[in-house]
Amino acid sequence: MQTPVRVPDLKERKRRGEKIAMLTAYDATMARLLDRAGVDALLVGDSVGMVMLGHDTTIPVTLDDMVHHTKAVSRGTERALVVADMPFLTYQISASEAVRNAGRLIQEGGAAAVKLEGGREVVDVVKRLVDVGIPVMGHLGLLPQSVHKAGGFRRQATQPEEADRLIADAHALEEAGAFAIVIESVPHDVARLATAHVAIPTIGIGAGPDCDGQILVSHDILGLFDGPVPPFVQQYAKLADTIVAAGRAYVDDVRAARYPKSRQEIAGTRTP
Ligand code: KIV
Repeated sequence: MQTPVRVPDLKERKRRGEKIAMLTAYDATMARLLDRAGVDALLVGDSVGMVMLGHDTTIPVTLDDMVHHTKAVSRGTERALVVADMPFLTYQISASEAVRNAGRLIQEGGAAAVKLEGGREVVDVVKRLVDVGIPVMGHLGLLPQSVHKAGGFRRQATQPEEADRLIADAHALEEAGAFAIVIESVPHDVARLATAHVAIPTIGIGAGPDCDGQILVSHDILGLFDGPVPPFVQQYAKLADTIVAAGRAYVDDVRAARYPKSRQEIAGTRTP
C-alpha cells in the first residue's frame, strides 16, 4: 500500500515547488481508477449534481447526496486525499450548523477535508471548522453555488477591483486556517498574483498555469460527455464514443444471437 496523501502534504508540495494534481470523483469505481493513476487528491464535488444527477446547477445537491457519494469515493480510495464539497446552504446559516454538516462528510462519508465557496463572508465558519479539527479547502473566483447572483457561469475577477478583492479573500482564508484554495475561472495573472500572495496551495481550474495545482472534472477530461466542455479543459480520452460503440456491439450480438456463447454460460461465474 502506498503512503496516503495527508492535508499537510499539500502545503509541503507548494513549499517544494511540486505541482498538485486533483480531479473530481463521485463513485468508488472512478475513485479506484484515478487513485491508481496517482492523483494527489479527489474532490467529491457538488458538481455531482450536474455531472451525475442531471441537474442544471449545483444548487439542488443535498447533504445526503454528498454523504452518499463521499462514502463511495472513500471506499474506492487508498492513497489520494478525499475532499468533499459542502453543498449550498449547509454552511451559510450558522457556524454550528456548518460544523454538524461538515462533521457528517468526515464521520459518515470518510472524507479527510471539506471544501466551501466564498471569501471573507465565510471566514468565521472556516475558523470554527478548523478549530474543531476539520480541514477546509476554500474556493474563490467563479462560485457555482452563486450562479444566480452572478447571472451565469461567468469568468470572474476581470476588473482590477474584483482582482484586489479576490487576493484579499485568499489572504483571509489563509488567516482563517484554510489549507488550500480552489481558484476557478479567473484571468491567469490574477491567479498568479493570488498564488504568490499566500503560503497555502492554490488549485486552479480555468485559471492558468501558475497555480500550485490543477483540478478538472474527471468526466470532462475523460470525454464522458457528448456535449461541449469548457474551453480550458484538455480531453485525454473520448470514453463516450467507446461506451456507445461497446453498447452497440453488445446490442448487435444479442440480437444476432452471437452472445452468449454456450461455453461462456458454463464458465460464467462473476469474479469479484
Ligand atoms: O464541484 C466541483 O466539481 C468543483 C470543482 C470544479 C472545483 O467545485
